[in-house]
Amino acid sequence: MKKAIVTGITGQDAAYLAKLLLSKNYKVYGTYKKENDLSFWRLQELGVEDHPHLELLEYDLLDLDATMDMFKSLKPDEVYNLAAQSHVPKSFEAPIETVGATGLGVLHILEAIRYVDTNIKLFQASSSEIFGKTHIYPQTEETKFYPRNPYGVSKAFAHMMSINYRETYGIFACIGILYNHESPLRGEAFVTRKITSSVAKIKLGQLDVLKLGNLDAKRDWGYAQEYAQAMYLMMQEEVPQTYILATNRVQTVRDFVIMAFKAVDIELEFRGSDENEFAIDLKTRKVVLEVNPIFYRPLEKELLIGNPKKIQERLGWQAKTSLEEICKIMLKADLERCLR
Ligand code: NAP
Ligand code: GDD
Repeated sequence: MKKAIVTGITGQDAAYLAKLLLSKNYKVYGTYKKENDLSFWRLQELGVEDHPHLELLEYDLLDLDATMDMFKSLKPDEVYNLAAQSHVPKSFEAPIETVGATGLGVLHILEAIRYVDTNIKLFQASSSEIFGKTHIYPQTEETKFYPRNPYGVSKAFAHMMSINYRETYGIFACIGILYNHESPLRGEAFVTRKITSSVAKIKLGQLDVLKLGNLDAKRDWGYAQEYAQAMYLMMQEEVPQTYILATNRVQTVRDFVIMAFKAVDIELEFRGSDENEFAIDLKTRKVVLEVNPIFYRPLEKELLIGNPKKIQERLGWQAKTSLEEICKIMLKADLERCLR
């Protein structure tokens, strides 16, 4: 039985990845950080929380001794480093915490691999945010980095450190440059889930208005389950690679808002502009959406869209689910949650 450590087990991707690895007969050690509001709701929703081959372990990503001890005692074959402070606005408010979890965390893992066993394979979750202020569209694995927020800077550090250990010590460190990927397990701090959970509540009369920031922000949005499959495929290769994981599609927050309301039979009419923009439900004439500048971001002008040609050609991986389908899947789950 292969053994895998998955860091950040309370997060979206780790839940899908844990389920996938369990289905492939892995022993999975999911690590989490101590929190007052600790919850394994995602593992519960996927029905794997009590799986006999899943063990949940409290582990501080920034404790080198704990990392070494964990690797010595568990002897993993594969480590998937998914833990991060992953919310871009929070990275401006808490840059030091972000650099710790998102940047430095992987260095402890790389050091533990170097000292304990250089045969342990690592998947590092990198991000399109490393490209930030780019003028190359779509981005490829060769595009120059220019991160524009503390989260992106931390991911760029983690990315380069993984490459450095790969080249210096021959460690199998593969890197997925992940573009946005969504699902019913997405955190509500992120825009798609904020929209689907609010639209479900509006539909059921539990909320009046959805308040958002920049409606014209563009993203390359894929489906999280498919990205977890790509992570697994990358770890089965002989030689570690860096791959862009993206759809090569670009849509706006406004597109997603329209899709979400349409999925519950609400047609919108947009009125006003910029921070005074709002939308009404054409049937009831009630305001159901308002722009609120408190959700605007500093330094957000660039277009991040990824070219997944390398992974398509080498591993046959392709993002398949359309954003409309993702939106419908998310709304269905949120409507069900509201009715529970
Ligand atoms: P997520 O839902 O935010 O999960 C991240 C996990 O990391 C959470 O379980 C979080 O725990 C944990 N974490 C945060 N700080 C930690 C710390 N100091 N020590 C240990 N664990 C810590 O993120 P995701 O969407 O699953 O993404 C998985 C990975 O891919 C992340 O590294 C993310 O940056 C990267 N990524 C994601 C996307 C995307 O669109 N989803 C795109 C690009 C890159 P708490 O919940 O307790 O804070
Ligand atoms: N969160 C949020 N809330 N975003 C909003 C809102 C709002 O009310 N209104 C508009 N947006 C816009 C943001 O300005 C941004 O352009 C876009 O929606 C997407 O925001 P998020 O869903 O928060 O994701 P993100 O793109 O900043 O970051 C995600 O993707 C990255 C990869 O590109 C995260 O998962 C990162 O961890 C990941 O690296």
